[in-house]
Amino acid sequence: MADPSFSAPERQAVYRVIAERRDMRRFIPDSTVDPHVLARLLAAAHAAPSVGLMQPWRFVRITDDTLRRAIHALVDEERHRTARALGQREQEFLALKVEGIRDCAELLVVALREGRQAHIFGRRTLPQMDLASVSCAIQNLWLAARAEGLGMGWVSLFEPQPLAQLLGMPADAEPVAILCLGPVPEFPDRPALELDDWAYRKPLNEFVSENSWEQS
Ligand SMILES: Cc1cc2nc3c(=O)[nH]c(=O)nc-3n(C[C@H](O)[C@H](O)[C@H](O)COP(=O)(O)O)c2cc1C
Repeated sequence: MADPSFSAPERQAVYRVIAERRDMRRFIPDSTVDPHVLARLLAAAHAAPSVGLMQPWRFVRITDDTLRRAIHALVDEERHRTARALGQREQEFLALKVEGIRDCAELLVVALREGRQAHIFGRRTLPQMDLASVSCAIQNLWLAARAEGLGMGWVSLFEPQPLAQLLGMPADAEPVAILCLGPVPEFPDRPALELDDWAYRKPLNEFVSENSWEQS
């Protein structure tokens, strides 16, 4: 069998996009995404692995401005509720930029599809594997967007029910992400939450152990 590994520059590109992907909240206003690029990004998302090959994702592209404003309002309400729930860190949280819904070129809502309960394979004991599968699709899109020079921000600050209603989703479908996508002024080399002194990444060795939960 021929060497199955990618060439050295291809491998470098894979690790580079993983390292340089960032969660983006600042976008260039009035910019656009080439429809061919958007089609490639959605195809990358749709190529994701999924439990039992159930492909539990659904992507809703928001092109209506009134709807975009309504989605922003939902997120802003939840931003304030989250701030209040944070107690001492309320003001610090309110100072963070946590979404770019109004400025991003493309807005996508990602949802879990209806009819998921029929899928047992890999979900009998772990029903949340549908969400894990959707997350794989979103990560594919995120990495492909970075490779295309586009930023993406994952927004999870919303009540699912009113968003589902806004988009006319069936009762057993559930929105799980609002994705802001588009050209950005720059890609920071560290997470925005680190730059804003909110939280810091911990080193890998704190997350890996051998044979038991205990670390040596
Ligand atoms: C499931 C998920 C939900 C997230 N929701 C939000 C959000 O609502 N608002 C936000 O500003 N960032 C959100 N983020 C982005 C994280 O804050 C970000 O990934 C983390 O700080 C690390 O930064 P990086 O992605 O630039 O490496 C979310 C990320 C994930 C994976």
